[in-house]
Amino acid sequence: MTLFKGWEGPDSLAEIMQEIFVTGGAGFIGSAFVRLLLDEISELRIRNFDALTYAGNLDNLEGLDGSRHSFIRGNIADSEAVLGALSENTYAVVNFAAESHVDRSIANAAEFLTTNIVGTQVLLDAARERGVKRFIQVSTDEVMGSLPENEDVFFTEKSPFQPNSPYAASKAAAEHLVRAAHETFGLDTVVTRCGNNYGPRQFPEKFLPLALSNALNDQPIPVYGDGRNVRDWIYVDDHCRALLLAMEKGRAGAVYNIGARNERPNIEVVESLLKTLGKPKSLIRFVKDRPGHDRRYALDPSLIETELGWRPQETWESGLEKTIEWYRQNTQWLERAKSGAYRDYYREQYGEEVSAG
Ligand code: NAD
Ligand code: DAU
Repeated sequence: MTLFKGWEGPDSLAEIMQEIFVTGGAGFIGSAFVRLLLDEISELRIRNFDALTYAGNLDNLEGLDGSRHSFIRGNIADSEAVLGALSENTYAVVNFAAESHVDRSIANAAEFLTTNIVGTQVLLDAARERGVKRFIQVSTDEVMGSLPENEDVFFTEKSPFQPNSPYAASKAAAEHLVRAAHETFGLDTVVTRCGNNYGPRQFPEKFLPLALSNALNDQPIPVYGDGRNVRDWIYVDDHCRALLLAMEKGRAGAVYNIGARNERPNIEVVESLLKTLGKPKSLIRFVKDRPGHDRRYALDPSLIETELGWRPQETWESGLEKTIEWYRQNTQWLERAKSGAYRDYYREQYGEEVSAG
C-alpha cells in the first residue's frame, strides 16, 4: 500500500500516523496544511484546534471531509482545554497557532507572549503527557533578525537569534522552549523556519493580500519606507509540502530552513502584482516606515533540500497567478475578512478607511 504520494518508508507508518493534532488550522497556512494532509494521506484523521481569533476563519475549512477532520475551538494557552482535546493516539502535534502579524505586535505585544510563548509550553507539556510521538514547531526566519542588503549572505540553521520585533522575539522564545523540551525530556521535536508565505486565504492585513485587495478596488497601496526591504517569498503549498516532509522524515531535534530562493524588494512585489492585474503604478503610496523594520530576509534551504529532498513546485509567477485567481474568485471571503474589527484596525494603522469589497 502507498501511504502517500512519493512516500518510500515502511507501511507500518500508517498505524503510527493515526491522528495529527494541528493547532491554528483555521488560519492561512494551517488551513492549507490541513487540506494537504487530507489529500495526501489516505487513512489520516486530523483534530484541528484553533481559538478563532480575528485571523482564524471557519470559511477556510469549508468543504473538508468531516469524517476525517474535526474542529475544536480552544486556546493553546489553556492547558485543560488542550489536554481535553489531545488524544493518546496522536502521532504529531503541528503548532501553527500564533499571533502572526508584526505590526500588531508593535502596537501591543501582550497576546503574542501569551499565545506564542505560554501556548507553546502548554502544548509541549501536553504532548509529553499524552505520549505524542513528534512535535513540529512552525517558526519563522524572523527569529534570525535582518541581513545586510547587497551582500551574498543568507540565513542558515546556525545563524544566531537576533529577533527585532516583539513578534519575532516571541517566536524565538517559543523555539527555545521547543529545544529545551527536546534536550531535557527527550521529546521528538522538529523546528521549521520559513520566509514570507503568499497564496489563497491569507488575512488581508498582510502585505500581499492587502496590496491585492486595494489594487482590485483601485485604492492606494501603502508601501513602508523606501520600499526596498527584501522578503523571501514562498507559495503556501510549497511551505506545507516541506512541513509534511519534516513531519515524516525530519531528524529529531533538527531545525530546517524553508525557502524558495525568491528574494524580492517590496516595491518589486507590488509592481509585479500591478502588472499582472493590469493596474497603474500610480496606486503605489509610500508611507511612514515600520519601526525596527528588518531590511532583508533570505534563507539558505540547502539542508532541507539535501536531507529531505524538498523542492518548491511553484515559481513566483505561477504562485502569484494562482493567488490572484483565488482572490478574484472569492470576493465574498475577502469582504467578510475585511468587515468588523478589521475596519478599526485599518483606520488605526493607515489613518484612512479600508476599501469596500
Ligand atoms: P494566521 O494569523 O493566519 O493564523 C493563526 C491561526 O492561529 C488563526 O487561525 C488563529 O485563530 C489561531 N490562533 C491564534 N491564537 C491562538 C491561540 N491562543 N490558541 C489557538 N489558536 C490560536 O497565521 P499564519 O500566517 O497562517 O501563520 C501560521 C504560523 O506560521 C504562525 O506560527 C507563524 O508564526 C508561522 N509563519 C508564518 C509565516 C507567514 O508568512 N505567514 C511565515 C513563517 C512562519
Ligand atoms: O518572514 C516570515 C514572516 O513573514 C512571518 O513570520 C510573519 O508571520 C508574516 O507576517 C511575515 O512578516 P512580514 O512582516 O515580513 O510580513 P508583512 O506582510 O507584514 O510585510 C511584508 C513586507 O511588506 C515588510 O517588509 C513590511 C512591508 N509592508 C507591510 C504592510 C502590511 C508594507 O510595505 N506595507 C504594508 O502595509
